Amino acid sequence: MGRVKYLIAGNWKMNKVTSDASDLAKEIQHQAGNQTAVNVVVCPPFTSLQSVSNLIKDSNVQLGAQNMSAESSGAFTGEVSAEMLRDLLTNYVILGHSERRAYYGETDEVVNRKVHAALENSLKPIFCVGETLEQREAGQTLSIIQDQIKSGLIHVTADKADSIVVAYEPVWAIGTGKTATPEMAQEVHSEIRKQLSELFNADVASKIKILYGGSMKPENADELLAQEDIDGGLIGGAALNARSFCGIIESAIRLSA
Ligand code: 13P
Repeated sequence: MGRVKYLIAGNWKMNKVTSDASDLAKEIQHQAGNQTAVNVVVCPPFTSLQSVSNLIKDSNVQLGAQNMSAESSGAFTGEVSAEMLRDLLTNYVILGHSERRAYYGETDEVVNRKVHAALENSLKPIFCVGETLEQREAGQTLSIIQDQIKSGLIHVTADKADSIVVAYEPVWAIGTGKTATPEMAQEVHSEIRKQLSELFNADVASKIKILYGGSMKPENADELLAQEDIDGGLIGGAALNARSFCGIIESAIRLSA
């Protein structure tokens, strides 16, 4: 069986005012919006979702958000619901990013509620897991990831699970210029696949895309994406520039041929 289509997603984090976000989206649309070999997703800040949505709507670039509320509506000042994201033609939503877990106290339980809210509203969760440096050095990497997956995906049924995307982002590799070696990443990805197979079934596990994130750039994309269980990337810094982001997309296109 061939591998699933690669998914290359850009997490712009808290960067780009609307005019800059539009410029970047236009450039990505121009360079990668016509190809169909690879799925491309951009995740701008909430303030630019509408304008980026308008710019990419007729292209092969899809829209993602970086977070959302677990609640559906009501008195939750400052929050954004799944329905609001769908209304802007958002397809994906990043959930449980390590920055949200570390700085905003998001627990596995909250992340799990958000995963359910996303699935109920036909948004595809990009569900993030990853260990800290301390945990890796203590030999706890696999048990930490397994716990995050088990708790984050509790009560998700096999019929809904194949629209989930899992992103493995070792916390020590995010924004640090340190990348997991392809072998280190592959080891974790294959364990994740095994666990997904146990949680759901082998067929569903083979359809769930597992992305790598953490200092991915055009220079290291080829060897990471060539790994059997690496189905794409969740890119931070290198996604803020069309040339480097599209360079990673080109790697994925080459490897798909
Ligand atoms: P960097 O690519 O900047 O390391 O960020 C990765 C990330 O956190 C994507 O969500």
